[in-house]
Amino acid sequence: MEPKELCKLAVEAMGHAYVPYSGYKVGAALLCADGTVYQGCNIENASFSPTVCAERTAFFKAVYDGRRDFTAIAICGGRDGVITGAFPPCGVCRQVMREFCEDDFILYFVTADGYEAHTLAEVLPYSFSAKTHMK
Ligand code: THU
Repeated sequence: MEPKELCKLAVEAMGHAYVPYSGYKVGAALLCADGTVYQGCNIENASFSPTVCAERTAFFKAVYDGRRDFTAIAICGGRDGVITGAFPPCGVCRQVMREFCEDDFILYFVTADGYEAHTLAEVLPYSFSAKTHMK
């Protein structure tokens, strides 16, 4: 799947966000090796800490379905769903990516006029994982 198409699915997912507290809508589209896409949005809570990010919504939907073969994720976000620039994932979401993805997993950050691409190795170097630390 073309990165542009994956980015479009992230934008579509952003429309599902439940954000009565921050107003920041976030969407994610997670691509599997066979072309299947899992979409996610952020879901907030009055108690704040139960809030889940869009990226983890997508990952957990996919993992529940037995998926492990992830190649890329597109992410977008902005106040009231208006994309003004890249909306990079929080550290917790990066760590979840590390659990299931290799260094060459690609992250597309949707921008106002396109996207930027990064690898997981770039955005989470020198990190903890079962593969490297729990042998
Ligand atoms: N958020 C995400 O969905 N993904 C991230 O990686 C960063 C933050 C959400 C959580 C909260 O609902 C809103 O953005 C503002 O922090």
